[in-house]
Amino acid sequence: MTAARLLSVTLAAALALAASASPAADRAAGRAKAKMCIACHAINGASLRPDAPHLWGQVELYLAEQLRAYRSGERKSEVMKIIAAPLSDEDIDNLAAWFAGIPVAVEPVE
Ligand code: HEC
Repeated sequence: MTAARLLSVTLAAALALAASASPAADRAAGRAKAKMCIACHAINGASLRPDAPHLWGQVELYLAEQLRAYRSGERKSEVMKIIAAPLSDEDIDNLAAWFAGIPVAVEPVE
């Protein structure tokens, strides 16, 4: 097995694990809600603005925690506070499941 193949198998396993982090989450509903995010993060989380982080393949629990922190004001961002304000807990779990479940190809670094 090549290093690249091993990495992709490991990544797939990690993604499968991430995808199961919130079994109640609805990825299809998350994708529909992600239309709110397109201008900056794109529908697939490959962010379009230099100040917006990529969301694709990010850890599901981390994404959900960040959205809750923006909503409560615990994490400060003018833009993300406005975006997160109307999101329900269910919206947040669905959005996190959507972006976390997008596969990312990673090239091994020598
Ligand atoms: C108008 C642009 C814009 C829109 C629309 C937007 N974001 Fe963001 N997002 C940002 C910026 C800028 C940041 C970086 C904020 C910071 O410095 O904390 C960010 C950060 C985040 C982070 C933190 C990522 C990390 O790595 O810590 C998450 C999660 C996130 N956005 C999710 C979303 C979701 C989900 C939506 C749609 C419901 C959305 N964003 C819509 C601009 C946007």
